[in-house]
Amino acid sequence: HLSKLEVLERKNQEALLGGGQARIDAQHKKGKLTARERIDLLLDEGSFEEIGKFVMHRSKDFGLDKEYYLGDGVVTGYGTVNGRLVYVFSQDFTVFGGSLSETHAEKIVKIMDLAMKNGAPVIGLNDSGGARIQEGVVSLGGYADIFYKNTLASGVVPQLSAIMGPCAGGAVYSPAITDFILMVEDTSYMFVTGPNVVKTVTHENVTSEELGGASTHSTKSGVTHFSCANEVVCINHVKQLLSYMPQNCEETAPTLPYEAGNETRPVLDSIIPENPNQPYDIREVIEGIIDADSFLEVHQNFAENIVVGFARLGGRSIGIVGNQPAVLAGVLDINASTKAARFVRFCDSFNIPLLVLEDVPGFLPGTDQEWRGIITNGAKLLYAFCEATVPRITVITRKAYGGAYDVMNSKHIGADMNYAWPTAEIAVMGAKGAAEIIFKREIAAASDPEAKLQEKVDEYQQKFATPYRAAHRGFVDEVILPSETRQKLIRAFKMLENKVDTMPRKKHGNIPL
Ligand code: COA
Repeated sequence: HLSKLEVLERKNQEALLGGGQARIDAQHKKGKLTARERIDLLLDEGSFEEIGKFVMHRSKDFGLDKEYYLGDGVVTGYGTVNGRLVYVFSQDFTVFGGSLSETHAEKIVKIMDLAMKNGAPVIGLNDSGGARIQEGVVSLGGYADIFYKNTLASGVVPQLSAIMGPCAGGAVYSPAITDFILMVEDTSYMFVTGPNVVKTVTHENVTSEELGGASTHSTKSGVTHFSCANEVVCINHVKQLLSYMPQNCEETAPTLPYEAGNETRPVLDSIIPENPNQPYDIREVIEGIIDADSFLEVHQNFAENIVVGFARLGGRSIGIVGNQPAVLAGVLDINASTKAARFVRFCDSFNIPLLVLEDVPGFLPGTDQEWRGIITNGAKLLYAFCEATVPRITVITRKAYGGAYDVMNSKHIGADMNYAWPTAEIAVMGAKGAAEIIFKREIAAASDPEAKLQEKVDEYQQKFATPYRAAHRGFVDEVILPSETRQKLIRAFKMLENKVDTMPRKKHGNIPL
């Protein structure tokens, strides 16, 4: 006969075992951690408080009336990461394959409600076989409840999704609505329909990994923002990401202590090549400007012609968007535009100031881009910058050509401060293209057309391929030495720290999707 205290103790022990030791061992054998081990890695030691540990499903069909597990396949609760409150749910693959039941969903929704009311991030650790098949529509309803909450919470508190196992079918749409997705290489996958259905419908032979593994989604589709070598790396990334974010949309990100010193960075003076057609790596410029080792790149291997990520400048958290001249000369295309637009909107939602490093020759020409809608997609980035009310600063390092000049956080669309390096070329297009068009007849009529073209190219170059026309107009606030950039930016972001700006009253805008 057990005492009441012993009954509780026994139930607690039972809950900790999830689907039982054999299934825990099977999980480990796959190179995966259990739901609770993952929470232990994520949260500060001893900070986890569980909610709903004894919840059980209410299903009776297909033998479920004989199979119950305390917690019902998801561990939920709150705790701290580096001392800051977070809410977490961690799906337990050892219980019905982590599949989502009505009650499993209710547990997730419960912590999301708490997160929204109390203003703290939600972290989802996903490892699930999808809808609890035996439950039918009740389980689907549970998913929809979560999607709805994800959407309501979007822009209120940061939501992060780590995919650490299967995430298939409707299940993918919860992570998809959250702010960031991280996937673990080789052990996780995400797809709307699996390889078997794909084979039946399109006759393609494809493995789960090829169809929706971490490498696919971090390079081809852009669905995931981070591809992580293993679960420990993945959870460390979650923690690092959180460090750049505020707890909710009413707050600003924590600032690290920063001691001002000599902020001159001579290395920046020699990064831009003599020949304007030669590439360089924008990451070198980023590293030259920011606090040492503070850059966390997002979407590193997707749309590499634009670089986005978080960094610190004088201890302050900022979001950086930089054209990447080392890939496709830094042109804007569909993927680069959507990647950057989503990042800009995240930063704006959560009061993270934006730094734009601009070296862009324009939009990528061609039928592929036009037919797939570069117009609509490029407009996303334009729209995202236009509506951003956070402090916004642009540094034009080299090319700022054509419509892309307007798009890349120009003064005209609300940037607070615009700097240009002496190497900046702010023009409608490159000098050669421009000369060929506007002096077409003169060149054709010349006795030596080649020489005439060169003469006209030089003329256009001198007039427009500089930052000074824009500076005369005030479109550029100051032309600065590259080596002074860090100092200028630290001061300017400090000057802007109390910026208040609002959009006209509306229900919500209609970003071109
Ligand atoms: N509903 C109920 N139980 C599920 C489930 C689901 N959606 N997915 C998995 N399970 C159970 C399995 O029956 C098994 O139970 P057991 O431990 O009592 O044997 C356990 O979870 C582990 O599943 P298993 O298939 O052995 O693991 P696996 O690693 O070999 O495969 C999946 C994982 C996700 C590929 C596979 O379980 C699967 O295809 N599940 C169904 C996916 C699906 O179609 N979901 C519904 C649409 S959203």
